[in-house]
Amino acid sequence: MSTFDFTRRPRRLRQNPAIRELVSETRLHPADFILPMFVADGLSEKREISSMPGVFQHTTDSLVRAVAEAAEQGIRCIDLFGVPLDDDKDAEGSPAWDPEGVLNRNLAVLRKEFGDDVMIMADTCLDEFTDHGHCGVLSEDRWGNSIVDNDATVELYQKMSVAQAEAGAHIVSPSGMMDGQIEAIRAALDVAGFQDVSIMAYSAKYASAFFGPFREAVGSSLQGDRRTYQQDPANIRESLLETQLDIEEGADFVMVKPALPYLDVLTKVAEMSPVPVAAYQVSGEYAMIQAAGLNGWVDREAVMMESLTAIKRAGADQILTYFAVDAAKQLNG
Ligand code: PBG
Repeated sequence: MSTFDFTRRPRRLRQNPAIRELVSETRLHPADFILPMFVADGLSEKREISSMPGVFQHTTDSLVRAVAEAAEQGIRCIDLFGVPLDDDKDAEGSPAWDPEGVLNRNLAVLRKEFGDDVMIMADTCLDEFTDHGHCGVLSEDRWGNSIVDNDATVELYQKMSVAQAEAGAHIVSPSGMMDGQIEAIRAALDVAGFQDVSIMAYSAKYASAFFGPFREAVGSSLQGDRRTYQQDPANIRESLLETQLDIEEGADFVMVKPALPYLDVLTKVAEMSPVPVAAYQVSGEYAMIQAAGLNGWVDREAVMMESLTAIKRAGADQILTYFAVDAAKQLNG
């Protein structure tokens, strides 16, 4: 008899791959993933983003091919960002609602090409389109300080979301963190007859340095930061309030962003949300894993799958990730 009474032996359920799979609590599936994609004006061929190896600014042709590849691997939704020419940007971001603007033109191409086989989601935010790079329009407060004008911006988001719906987007995704944006966009879509277009609300979006590589990906003109509209990384109560408001205002999905450094937020949001909860594994999270993997410092494929599993375990129903196709390929064997 041993001096210990090992009646409890958790290792029993880890003995071999079959029993481990039998007791696995979290399973990834290609349909969990949403692939963020970039399409740019003025390219003759797709261009790799140097701080995001393996991610491209697409031409229309290469975009269509890449969406087809994702669909073949079982991805059910892509999220499209448009990159206009610098010369087309202005203070309001008018290419955002121009049917001929880079984003709307390519949304229309994708909807025509893929119908309802792949959900086409559009980024609904002005930062790619404004010459100052902010997510909204600027005005002055009564002391003469430059501010991002909430209500004037929300009106432009209404125009933008209707243009995206007209182009064929199944889902619009307001990412600008303006107050009241979900209610206003829902109303604008409904008035225009787009009751069937869903809203994925970036609800808990932090002013995060993990967005760094994204600025290159969209050729952002931003000087300064977004701390007057995106949340302080120190706070979590605010996330629950933002999420609750977005649900009340009519969000069909809510989102937490970034993902891995904010798993505590994700878990709390998942506990309270009656609608699906997405998490966005952002550009900097991707870049860190790619960089370490390409240097041979970590096992890229293993870290990729582990990070996605952790995000799902923490409560994500959908994961926006630049790894979507690679991860789906691994799952599909
Ligand atoms: C704003 C937007 C950003 C991202 C998605 N939508 C940038 C920001 O808020 O500064 C970041 C995505 C990423 O880092 O992968 N339209």
